[in-house]
Parts: sequence; C-alpha cells; structure tokens
Amino acid sequence: MRHSFVVKPAKSIKGSVVVPADKSIAHRSIMISAISKGKTEILNFPLNKDCLITLRVFQELGVKISMIKSTPYTARVLVEGKGLYSLKSKQSLFIGDSGTTFRLLSGILAGLPASVILKGGISLSRRPMSRIAQPLRKMGAVIKSRQVRGKMEEYPPLMIKGGNLKGISYKMPVASAQVKSCILLAGLFAQGRTTIIEPIKTRDHTEKMLKQFKAKIKVKREKIILQKKSLCSAGRIYIPGDISCASFFIVAATIIPDSRICLKSVGINPTRTGIIKVLRRMGADIKLKTKSEKRKTGAKSEKRKTGAKSEKRKDGEPIGDIFVRTSKLRGTVIKKDEIPSLIDELPILMVAAAKADGKTEIIGAGELKIKETDRINSMVTNLLKMGADIKIAGLRKIIIRGSTGLKGARVRSFADHRTAMSMVIAGLAAEGRTVVDDIDCIAKSFPNFLKLVKRFLC
Ligand code: S3P
Repeated sequence: MRHSFVVKPAKSIKGSVVVPADKSIAHRSIMISAISKGKTEILNFPLNKDCLITLRVFQELGVKISMIKSTPYTARVLVEGKGLYSLKSKQSLFIGDSGTTFRLLSGILAGLPASVILKGGISLSRRPMSRIAQPLRKMGAVIKSRQVRGKMEEYPPLMIKGGNLKGISYKMPVASAQVKSCILLAGLFAQGRTTIIEPIKTRDHTEKMLKQFKAKIKVKREKIILQKKSLCSAGRIYIPGDISCASFFIVAATIIPDSRICLKSVGINPTRTGIIKVLRRMGADIKLKTKSEKRKTGAKSEKRKTGAKSEKRKDGEPIGDIFVRTSKLRGTVIKKDEIPSLIDELPILMVAAAKADGKTEIIGAGELKIKETDRINSMVTNLLKMGADIKIAGLRKIIIRGSTGLKGARVRSFADHRTAMSMVIAGLAAEGRTVVDDIDCIAKSFPNFLKLVKRFLC
C-alpha cells in the first residue's frame, strides 16, 4: 500500500532540529571499519534503509557487527574488522536500492580473489555502472554486466571476479564521489600506486576516513594518490548530522515567514556545503557556529555511557550548528563547478528558487537525471503543478522564474526520497492544501522527516 502525506501551509517554523547522521559518512564507516584491523565503534549511526543495507551486507560477508539503539533513529555500532582480505566469499549479494553501497562495495570486491554477483533492486537496476566497471577492469578485475538493447550503458547485476589488481592513473570522466571512492577502495588492494584526477572536486569523506584508518593517501586538490597498505581501526568515529537532510529545513526556514531555527551538530565539510553558499548568495540569513568533533556533545555522552577511549581526530569531519531565519531570496546562477557540492540538494534548491525574486539558472545538472529517479523531470513536473514557472533548457539546464506564490496541488515522489521531501517543504510554503503521494521512499535517508515536519504544522 502506498501512503500519501497531506501538507498544509505552515505559519512559521521555530525551534531546534536534530537531523539524522550523514548517510555518506555512515556507509563509509561500516565499509572501512570492516576491512581494517581492530574494533571500531561508530557513534550516531543513522538507522535509515540504505545504511542498514550496508550493515547487513557486511554481516553477510562475515564481519562481526553489533548494534545498540541510542535513539529510535540512531545506534552505536561496533565493527570487528579483521583486515583487507578477511571478507567471506559469497555467490551473490542483494544491495536493494542503495547506489552508494553498490558502487563502493564493488571496489572492495574487485580487490578480493573471488567471484560474486551483485544484484540491485528495481530502481538501482536502472542506474549506470560503466562508470565503475571501466576503471575496475583497467585495474585488472573481470566484470560482466547487464546490457540493454540500444544503449551503450551497463546496468546491475554485475558479476565481479576480483584479485590481482594493479594501480592505475585515472582521469575521471564524471565528477562522482561514488566512482572516486570505488576506485580508492579497490586501490587499497592494488599493487603499485593508484592516482585519481577528478574533473571537479567531489565530497571527500572517503579520503578523510582512509587517513583516519592510517591509509597511505595523499590529496592535492583534485588529485589523489593512494598506495596499498593495510588499515588499522580509528577506534571511534562520530557521524555528524547530514547536511543533505538539514537542507530541507534550511530552505523551509528561509522561505516560510517569521521562521527561526537551529540545526544541531551538522557536518559542514566544505565539499558538501554548496547549498549554504548558494542560498547566502540568494540573500538567505544563515549563520554557522563550528565546533571541533572532539567536543561534540553526542560523542561525549556516549563516551560517558560506554567508557570508551577517545582518540585524535585531526582528519575528522568538521561539525557545526546552523542558524537560519526567514529572508527574501533573489535568483542566482548555479554553475557546473558548484554542482558536486550540492548535487543532492538541487531538488530543494529548485523549491527555494521558485520562491525567490527573479530568474535562477541551474547549469550542468545532467547527473540529476540518473539518481533514484530523473530528478529534473520529477521536480519540474511537480513544481509546474504547483504553479511555478520552471522549464528545462537543453539537456542539462533548468530555468526557474521565481514568484512568491506556489499553489497547493497533488504531486508525487516518483519513488524518490529527495523529491518527496522537497515537495513536502514546497507544500508548507504554498497556499492551500498539498498532497504528496507515495511518500514511503523517505525512509531511504530520513525516516523521521515527516514526524519533524508535523511539529511545525500545529
Ligand atoms: C554520494 C555521492 C553522490 C550523491 C549520493 C551519495 C556518496 O553521488 O548523489 O547521494 O556517498 O558518495 P555521485 O557520486 O553519483 O555523484
């Protein structure tokens, strides 16, 4: 049964919001702990659908992972890593619809001397995999994929026969953190040096975490050099709040009158904060108060409870509180080189642009078409229904002429979590009643999103 959510206009949104922990960092924390030596304690692990897939898959691969819930939506996870070559071989693994799990795990499996079939769910099976298959083949892995008649692309399932990898120098044709991370993880198993050159810098959580786990890795802007070396546990990892989840409330507080909110302990890694840069340029009132990861309150209280030892975090993720007040927005141009730093925030930025004065152009957003759904199509279709002036120009450009009014309408998620949440926020800022159909997909990244939204409806 598919559920719908009815949204009424919000008068204002006020108070403090704790968003779930960062999904990208959480996937990496399980994977990298699992192939390092020693026990890793992961604090504030988010219990969303995708991250639970990664956890389950690594348990299937023989890694001892235990979990104690700290809140209904977070857990303390303990991973007992036994080193690079310790994973159990499996004939096949089902990855559901988690693209990050699929692509990063492929890198690890390519390093192992075994053969496995990686299967995806309905939505993941439509997503392109040549971007990882090609570099992994160059490194020496044997990869077979599903091909679709009339298309040059490769799709899941993938058969990966790994082992005996050699390092390569790879100039990435697309800016993708998943592809970069896949190659880096494969590089851990490869003889010689692996060099990656990115066309535009993407999120660098893998590089940061590999440093924490004592990998031999050097980063010089868009160039990363890695050499084979076994990893040792970082001891403890605290996962900060997810800026991608926070962005729904950042935009809501900006466009809903008389609002003022504080988002607590959010990851503010500069490779992820493009949304803040763009919204500020549009006139938003957003303030950041940074804090060091060591002083993070959640980590401290968990430590008190568990008595676990602390460790140095010089390569850890930056964390801060984000304060947002209502402001009048004006249109802007979002350029191609900004896209990777806000790729997942483009749907909610389209909502902000629809409420801004003047024209907003989003250039070079082609990658949006190959997410859980074609997010250009899903957002343009939905926002047009709500009366926005939005159009697609050419293959990769979106033009939005903002106005203050959006009208309530019946819209749908297209089975995509970020489209669903963006449309709920659009509904809060619209005149009249909005119904968002098929909202169960939200659990993929933000299971308590609607609960938080309901707080602002009364
Ligand atoms: C992610 C990278 C991005 C992003 C995705 C998560 C990651 O994908 O859209 O939600 O964790 O590395 P691409 O690498 O395909 O751009």
